[in-house]
Amino acid sequence: MDPVRIDVATPSRVYTVTIADGAIDRLARALDDVRAPARRFIVSSPLVWRLHGPKLAHALSGAEPILVPDGERFKQLPTVSRIYDALVRANADRASTIVTFGGGVIGDMAGFAAATYLRGVALVHVPTTLLAQVDSAIGGKVGVNHALGKNLIGAFYQPRAVVVDPQVLGTLPRREFRAGLYEVIKYGMTSSATLFDRVVKERQAIFARAPEALAPIIAESCRIKAGIVAADEREAGPRRILNFGHTAGHAIEAVTKYRRYRHGEAVGYGMLVAAQLARARGALTERDAQALKDVIAGLGPLPPIADVSATQILDAMRYDKKMIAGRLHIVLPTAIGATTIVDDVTEKEMRAALKAVGFAR
Ligand SMILES: NC(=O)c1ccc[n+]([C@@H]2O[C@H](COP(=O)([O-])OP(=O)(O)OC[C@H]3O[C@@H](n4cnc5c(N)ncnc54)[C@H](O)[C@@H]3O)[C@@H](O)[C@H]2O)c1
Ligand SMILES: [Zn+2]
Repeated sequence: MDPVRIDVATPSRVYTVTIADGAIDRLARALDDVRAPARRFIVSSPLVWRLHGPKLAHALSGAEPILVPDGERFKQLPTVSRIYDALVRANADRASTIVTFGGGVIGDMAGFAAATYLRGVALVHVPTTLLAQVDSAIGGKVGVNHALGKNLIGAFYQPRAVVVDPQVLGTLPRREFRAGLYEVIKYGMTSSATLFDRVVKERQAIFARAPEALAPIIAESCRIKAGIVAADEREAGPRRILNFGHTAGHAIEAVTKYRRYRHGEAVGYGMLVAAQLARARGALTERDAQALKDVIAGLGPLPPIADVSATQILDAMRYDKKMIAGRLHIVLPTAIGATTIVDDVTEKEMRAALKAVGFAR
C-alpha cells in the first residue's frame, strides 16, 4: 500500500495523519519533519510495550518509555498523575515530546498529560488499536473519565503528527478489533454511504485484516474525521454528529463502571438506540434502520444488556457533556450517511427506545 497522507487543518494547528505499513520504522524522520523537540518520552502500556516496544525503541533510539496501565477503568486522573511523576523525576522540560503509543485510553491520558505538563509540551500520536487509528488519535480531544461520567475532565490539544501503522493491528484481539469497527460504522452511518457499504461488502476481508481491505477503511475514516474536525475544532456545530451513538453509549459505560463493555461496543448499542428513536419519530426508514442493525449484527454478538436498567442509563445521561442548558442533544440518523441533531427527546421516548433495544426497565 502506498502511504496515505491526510491533512488536519484546525484553527489551532495544522498536522498530518500518515497511514502506511511500516510507518513506525520511519518514526524518527516523521518526528524530525514536524520539529518535535529532541527529548522524547513514549507513553505506552505494559502489554503494548511488550508486543511492539522493541520495534518502537529501535525506531526512536534514546526515547524514554513511561508505562502505565490502560483499559477504560484506568482512564482516570491517578493514572495521569503517574505520567506527571515520571516526567518530573526525569526532569522533562519544555524541549520534550510525548509520543503516545497505545489505544485510545493511552492516547487520551498521555495527550492530556502533554496538554497540561508545563502548560503543554509537544505531542505525537502513534495509535495501536483500530479505534485509536480511525478516531481518537485525530481531533485533539484528550482527557479522562470521572466516576460519574465519561471524559468529563479534559482539553482540546492537537498533536504535531499522527502516525498510523496498520501492521500493529495484527496483534489486536478480535474483540478490540470489532470495537474499532463500530466507530467505522459510525462514520459510514453519519457521513458516508460508500464507507458503510464497503464495511458490509468487505466484512470478511476486513476481519481477516487483509491490508487491501483494511487500509482503505482506515484512510476513509481518518479523512471523514479530519474534515469534520477542521470545520469545527471545538465541537460547536458539525463535529457533534460524531457523537452519534455516544449519548446512550457513554451512559452504558458509566453505569457498568467502564468494566463490562468496550467503548466501541457501548457505541454499537448507542447507535441502535438512536436508530430506534429515529424510527419511532418516522425520521428514518425501516430499510435503513434494518441495514444498520444488520451491519452491527454482522460483526458478531454484542455483550448482553438485558440486566442493565434503562432507569440507570437515563440517570447517567444527566451527566453527559451533550447536555446543554438542561437539554440533551442527540444525533439521530435520517438515512445511511445523514443525520440530524435534536434536543427535544423526552424521557419517555428514550425509555421506550432503550426497552426496544433490549435494556431492562
Ligand atoms: N479522543 C477522542 O476523540 C476519542 C474518540 C474515540 C474514543 N476515544 C476514547 O478511546 C478509548 C477507547 O480506546 P481503545 O478502544 O483503543 O481502548 P484501549 O486503549 O483500552 O485499548 C484496548 C486494549 O487493547 C490493547 N492494545 C492496544 N494496542 C494493541 C495491539 N496493537 N495489540 C494488542 N493489544 C493492544 C490495550 O492494551 C488495551 O487492553 C475510550 O476511552 C474512548 O473514550 C477518544
Ligand atoms: Zn467513540
